[in-house]
Amino acid sequence: MKIRLLKASEDAPIELLLLADPSEEIIKEYLARGQCFVAHINEEIIGALVLIRTRPETVEIVNIAVREDFQGKGIGKKLIFNAMEKAKEQNAKTIEIGTGNSSIDQLMIYQKCGFRITGIDRDFFTRHYKEEIHENGIQCRDMIRLGLDL
Ligand code: COA
Repeated sequence: MKIRLLKASEDAPIELLLLADPSEEIIKEYLARGQCFVAHINEEIIGALVLIRTRPETVEIVNIAVREDFQGKGIGKKLIFNAMEKAKEQNAKTIEIGTGNSSIDQLMIYQKCGFRITGIDRDFFTRHYKEEIHENGIQCRDMIRLGLDL
């Protein structure tokens, strides 16, 4: 498995990114201003991560997804550590990520990667997404924000 930056001329792996974010409209918006890193085996894309610059010296992982049949094999973690390295090379001092209050596994993974909770954006999902989202028997309403100093 290797990780590389998707070229501007290539189609983004939208189906994969939809696993992490139900809104194609929002995905296209951040793809237009971010860098999309893809995990691939030969030519086959099995994971993706989108990184955007949000404030001076700060970047945010706005999407991370691994194809279902490749989940739980350490690929998500490798994509996150690669994003941290690239962010450092681009002189970022802080990397951030946000996830839903109902995304229990993701909250675990990000904390295992060293992220700490920095805040809660209450009602983020009920304000920005038309459809209700439910996971683990919980409605996804609030965005849990996490950060890590690089
Ligand atoms: N239950 C328990 N532990 C889990 C887990 C699960 N379902 N999935 C992963 N983990 C643990 C792993 O054991 C690993 O910990 P370790 O290094 O201590 O063993 C850690 O979490 C990282 O796992 P990894 O295999 O790198 O994760 P992944 O390749 O499956 O990628 C996601 C993680 C979240 C990107 C992937 O599951 C995914 O695409 N999910 C759907 C999309 C999504 O929800 N994206 C995030 C939106 S905020």
